Amino acid sequence: MKSNMQSSTSSTVVIDQLENVKWTLSIFAEVLLLLIKSVYFIVESIYHMVVPLPEKSLADDIVLITGTGHGIGKCLAMQFADMCAKVICVDINEQSNAETAKEINVKWKGKAFAYTCDVSKLENVRELGEKIKNEVGTVTVLVNNAGIMPCKSFEAHDEATIRKIFDINVFAHFWMLDTFLPGMKVLNKGHVVFLSSMAGVLGLKNLVPYCGSKFAVRGLSEAIIDECKDDGYENLHFTVIYPYMVDTGLCKKPKIRFPSLLPLVTPESTAKTIISAVRKNLLELSIPGPLLLINHIFRCFPHKVAMDFKDFLGGGVDAHDD
Ligand SMILES: NC(=O)c1ccc[n+]([C@@H]2O[C@H](COP(=O)([O-])OP(=O)(O)OC[C@H]3O[C@@H](n4cnc5c(N)ncnc54)[C@H](O)[C@@H]3O)[C@@H](O)[C@H]2O)c1
Repeated sequence: MKSNMQSSTSSTVVIDQLENVKWTLSIFAEVLLLLIKSVYFIVESIYHMVVPLPEKSLADDIVLITGTGHGIGKCLAMQFADMCAKVICVDINEQSNAETAKEINVKWKGKAFAYTCDVSKLENVRELGEKIKNEVGTVTVLVNNAGIMPCKSFEAHDEATIRKIFDINVFAHFWMLDTFLPGMKVLNKGHVVFLSSMAGVLGLKNLVPYCGSKFAVRGLSEAIIDECKDDGYENLHFTVIYPYMVDTGLCKKPKIRFPSLLPLVTPESTAKTIISAVRKNLLELSIPGPLLLINHIFRCFPHKVAMDFKDFLGGGVDAHDD
């Protein structure tokens, strides 16, 4: 009886040991695979610094852009129209938005559709979604571009302005995703672009709420990308854009210490870069390109090093009245 019990205990110990060995081997195999894949991805990205990624066609796409009445959004609408089936222009400003659509339609014969909508309001966005589904079709490229940037010290911001910044710069992203992502999921095809900012990776004076809102865009985009990937939507793509300073009038008093290094870029060239990033399915891109990488590198050092380098570059915005 006793020897039976002893042999059953020792066989349990052997089974446990075998399980442990199996578990250790599987973790070892996973780590090895992780390392091989990491090296592959690093080599792949170095390779693509020399040989550019192929650009996908957008010929069959229905592209919706918010904030098309002015600036980057307007330029995006004009340039997307050159290569996609239909462009949907959305802005809170009816007149300037209608002008953008008219310009496109003169050149491209009925390609653009103008909708007036305050994208910070969920009910307005839901209504917009219904209209677009019935009148144009399923949106396959969504560019969340509309944004505002009041520049003043934190104390000078009132509650209403802080809430408005978050309503337009952050909550509108949720309402647009909530309305247009399901259609893309049904097709298992689509692309969402998020306009963040270098102020979404770097805190800047006179932009406390704006920086908070653009950091939020970075977080929400990274999380939705992870969720869609995990849910198996292989053909849904996402691009997060981090412009530094674009000459649209949004930065009313830009401070630029080294204009040849960090110039005020044109909205036309910004739109061209964004569209190229979409066509290459790039996950993220700063404008100018190396800024995001420089930021990542400096963040590896003690905080003071990164901050001193930021001060040396001397960028940012001065406060101004609205
Ligand atoms: N210009 C820059 O230097 C810069 C830098 C980094 C990031 N960005 C980001 O790029 C995006 C576009 O910037 P821009 O310089 O072209 O701005 P812009 O001011 O030139 O144009 C913004 C457009 O959005 C529209 N809009 C504002 N609120 C809206 C709302 N509630 N609903 C619908 N439309 C609304 C405006 O009417 C306007 O036509 C913004 O998200 C901005 O934060 C700009």
